[in-house]
Amino acid sequence: MTLSGENLALGYTPGTLVVDDQSVTIPAARVTVIVGPNACGKSTLLRGLAGLMRPSSGRVLLDGSEIARLPATELARRLGMLPQQPSTPDGITVADLVGRGRHPHQRWFRQWSADDEAAVSAALHATGTAELADRPVAELSGGQRQRAWIALVLAQGPGTMLLDEPTTFLDLAHQLDVLDLLRAVNAEQRRTIVMVLHDLELAARYADHLIAMRDGRIVAEGAPSAVVTEELVASVFGVDALVTPDPLTGTPLVLPRPGARRHADAAGLRDQEI
Ligand SMILES: Nc1ncnc2c1ncn2[C@@H]1O[C@H](COP(=O)(O)OP(=O)(O)OP(=O)(O)O)[C@@H](O)[C@H]1O
Ligand SMILES: [Mg+2]
Repeated sequence: MTLSGENLALGYTPGTLVVDDQSVTIPAARVTVIVGPNACGKSTLLRGLAGLMRPSSGRVLLDGSEIARLPATELARRLGMLPQQPSTPDGITVADLVGRGRHPHQRWFRQWSADDEAAVSAALHATGTAELADRPVAELSGGQRQRAWIALVLAQGPGTMLLDEPTTFLDLAHQLDVLDLLRAVNAEQRRTIVMVLHDLELAARYADHLIAMRDGRIVAEGAPSAVVTEELVASVFGVDALVTPDPLTGTPLVLPRPGARRHADAAGLRDQEI
């Protein structure tokens, strides 16, 4: 599955572009992580790549077909997206929510198959939400709800999965569980995964390919150790940090210097409206 954006321009109000003329190729069967400061356009780019926003110019291609021209059901079988703030339908239970992931696979003449049952059950177990199956989603904790939504995308089982901050609300153990799970899904089933993360060190550990954005533009991309440098952390995040290899993994470890933001101020980095 190859997903790419060509000269994408994305915005919400006429005349104002959030993402302007950006091209991106998502490596197939790899894990890509997008990082960047708040409001730089990460979610907007992800929505554009998922076909949830019509670009004002440019196009998104999935395996060579323009996404805007694919029928919705076919697109949903091939590409799934977990939004940053999904809205939970009223009164729905975890099992029902995850079951919705199977809608694109169902036919009018056969509503619910053994495959659907197996996919839902596997997704509930993989995300540790099986014991929550009968609970209303609205009554869950933030982290439980987040895992239920991840289960929905897993049950949907598309070849390309886009996840906007899948680890928000999760404690460290559950963050690692979710990221390990997504890595396993990528490795065992060769699914293409694209996610937005804020934690640079986890991003560097789990990404094959890292994309750094700022002000609606992709400013660096490539292997995490090539992208996460002191210069990039300063110029993209306005943080003066020591970047050193993680003794456990060799991937970049980002250690903000005491007073890191004051240093950035002195270097004029705050003036750039980060
Ligand atoms: N639905 C919307 N309507 C109008 N403007 C929007 C909408 N969603 C986002 N924006 C604006 O687009 C810009 C980019 O927002 P986006 O959500 O893509 O940022 P982000 O990088 O995902 O940030 P965060 O890290 O806070 O999630 C922001 O200035 C934001 O205010
Ligand atoms: Mg966002």
